[in-house]
Amino acid sequence: MARPSTLFSCTECASTSLKWQGQCPACGAWNTLVEATAGRKGVAASSASAALPGVAGSTRWPTGQAELDRVLGGGLVPGSVLLLGGDPGIGKSTLLTQLGAALARNVPVLYASAEESLPQIRLRASRLGLEEAPLRLLCESDLDEIMAQARACQAGLLVVDSVQTIASSRLTGVPGAVAQLRECAQELVRFAKSTDTAVILVGHVTKEGTLAGPRVLEHLVDTVLYFESDSGSRYRIIRAVKNRFGPASELAFYAMTEQGLRGVRNSSALFLTRPERPAPGSVVAVTHDSGRPLLVELQALVDQVKYGQPRRMAQGLDAQRLAMLLAVLHRHAAIALADADVFVNLVGGLEVREPATDLAIVAALVSSHANRAVPAGLALFGEIGLTGEVRPVAYGEERLIEASRQGFTVALAPRANLPRKPIKGLDVRAVERVDVAVGELRSLCAP
Ligand code: TYD
Ligand code: MG
Repeated sequence: MARPSTLFSCTECASTSLKWQGQCPACGAWNTLVEATAGRKGVAASSASAALPGVAGSTRWPTGQAELDRVLGGGLVPGSVLLLGGDPGIGKSTLLTQLGAALARNVPVLYASAEESLPQIRLRASRLGLEEAPLRLLCESDLDEIMAQARACQAGLLVVDSVQTIASSRLTGVPGAVAQLRECAQELVRFAKSTDTAVILVGHVTKEGTLAGPRVLEHLVDTVLYFESDSGSRYRIIRAVKNRFGPASELAFYAMTEQGLRGVRNSSALFLTRPERPAPGSVVAVTHDSGRPLLVELQALVDQVKYGQPRRMAQGLDAQRLAMLLAVLHRHAAIALADADVFVNLVGGLEVREPATDLAIVAALVSSHANRAVPAGLALFGEIGLTGEVRPVAYGEERLIEASRQGFTVALAPRANLPRKPIKGLDVRAVERVDVAVGELRSLCAP
């Protein structure tokens, strides 16, 4: 079947349709369909080469940063395309300057910026102590010029900062519009595969994470990393949400320092800034994320409803799970919170979805409800079932060892997770049921 000569693409959600309509059939936005064919022809004409060499090869270039290498599965893969997303100002350009400078010792690296001037980029590099690095800088927003320069210097790595600010005169639409964004990214993917150049695209994510942002590019690229941070915190997390060449859902931990981003090795207690005397409603959960234990503070606030419907809110945790735990608490521990506002929050801006936080959520609820603080040395984990049982979780012993290493002295844990031999300095109290756990908590809480 011959391809229709005209295609229309939505500027909101980037879906395509064969005929023009007032409303986008995919996202329902009005007057967003624009003709997309002209750009397509331009792209096809320039992408004659078909070979995709190298991608399957085993070569990897270590990035000079252990944390990032772990997330990438050992380093950058030549010919692969990586999207690094994150809020403006979080440290994307800083990280890539550091990475580019490290790689530039072994392969030509071209850092193309359409956002900053050469003096600005140099200033950052000198702040990072990298002014001598053999990194090639280019201030350019034209895609074709960027690719031509990358070819000319036979770049092994091309950084494009940012994909939202580059454009090609051959394509329709303004820079940053979804059609341009996608076409530019597609061209860069083709460039990467045909020249075996590793390409890193920087993408700004808006707070709402709207579709018009880099998310529309996720399926085009090989690896997607997102920078996350709690506002005001100097700690940064890089999360791999997609990775064709390494483990997905890995996390890397960084701290933003005066000399750029530093990997944080002892990261398990990174998100734990606890006061000397814990307040009612605050507990420490031992979670396990991306292959290592992580201690996090969980807070709950249980308050009598003044008027209207009781509210339930879960920040960084699963709201459905909270509703279930409230029901379990009612049914199996005789704690009724049906007429109370309930808020739970995972401190530090992290998201943890594993059911192993159940026991800690329950403990925070009970502590807030009773208005009694749990002891500062207490850490907990365990999954809670619908029949009120506390179920074992994976990596039980590792969690306990980490809690002890971080100075915790008492742990509530599922019975089946009891360590084979005692852990020095840690009093592990096994609980099999939620009512037993509540009883233990009451006995631990200061009167
Ligand atoms: P930047 O990498 O420019 O962010 P992005 O590219 O994601 O927009 O980093 C911006 C912030 O990082 C800025 O507020 C300054 C701070 N910073 C440091 O704290 N230390 C440093 O060494 C550098 C280079 C930046
Ligand atoms: Mg930047």
